[in-house]
Amino acid sequence: MRIGNVELGGYAALAPMAGVADRAFRELCMEFGAGYCVSEMVSSKGIAYNSKKSAELMELSDKERPSAVQLFGTEPDTMAQAAEFAMRYRPDVIDINMGCPAPKISGGGSGAALMRDPELCGRIVKAVSSAVDIPVTVKIRSGFDFEHINAVEVAKIVEKNGAQAVTVHGRTRQQFYAPPVNYDIIREVKRSLTIPVIGNGDICSAKSAQHMYDYTGCDYIMVGRGALGNPWVFREIDEYFRTGKMISPPTLDEKLDVLSRHISRAVEYKGEYVGMREARKHTAYYLKGFKNAAKLRNLAFSMETLDDLQKLINEIRTSNC
Ligand SMILES: Cc1cc2nc3c(=O)[nH]c(=O)nc-3n(C[C@H](O)[C@H](O)[C@H](O)COP(=O)(O)O)c2cc1C
Repeated sequence: MRIGNVELGGYAALAPMAGVADRAFRELCMEFGAGYCVSEMVSSKGIAYNSKKSAELMELSDKERPSAVQLFGTEPDTMAQAAEFAMRYRPDVIDINMGCPAPKISGGGSGAALMRDPELCGRIVKAVSSAVDIPVTVKIRSGFDFEHINAVEVAKIVEKNGAQAVTVHGRTRQQFYAPPVNYDIIREVKRSLTIPVIGNGDICSAKSAQHMYDYTGCDYIMVGRGALGNPWVFREIDEYFRTGKMISPPTLDEKLDVLSRHISRAVEYKGEYVGMREARKHTAYYLKGFKNAAKLRNLAFSMETLDDLQKLINEIRTSNC
């Protein structure tokens, strides 16, 4: 799989996820076999206003390559300038968010709201593609709502204007994350384009990965929520597609070791105050399916330091053995 001249390894990418798919998590998923990852979305206006937060979101390390910086916004010129600025962080790809359903993004006309104006989608892609000399890609949904399923139209316009791959999340903006995923629209987009198409929506195992590839004919897949607290999903997918074999699920010890490594790295990158607050939700994801998960989650939500995490891990080792 290639996006322009960028070669992706493996079989699946980690999806952009604001607030969770940060550098520490992306690096971990790449270690477990993700072949590509995309940054949390970054506001093009934030970049124009020199926001520190926007700059932090674009930091990429060599352990997470190839990777994209994802931008959102509505104005072609501002998006182009933001993409030029993002080049300081040496992304391999610039991805444009045309799928975010959150009111604070799509309410302002960005994210999924762009799909209501395909012509503007084309102008944004053209402006960004002209501003940078790396591939530009677009992430869309099936449409804005069930009355406007226009992924094929938008995908064709962005291809015509220079996009080098399109990711399709098979849900409308109206659906947010509710079922079902529309695999037919992903297949239709794949059949309508010459550039690669990445299928996205509800992939959480080798089996669901296989279904996405087989049903839609897509060139690559992207995993979001299925990786939360579960970076092993990439190892499972990778092993299955390479050898046809299913790996055994991680042991309790392996889960706890990876949790500890994940959070320690987040603290290294963000400091203990921010790192540990963000660690609470990640820890809750890792705890899914554990004995006494509700009680452990309560403990997780009061963690302040890495020592607190260690105490929690010790408690889990005692109570889950
Ligand atoms: C917490 C969260 C944050 C997300 N943030 C972004 C984002 O910044 N940019 C984006 O394009 N999509 C974002 N998404 C959507 C995902 O990239 C993905 O399209 C969606 O979760 C469907 O894939 P899944 O079923 O594998 O989770 C986010 C999703 C979640 C759950």
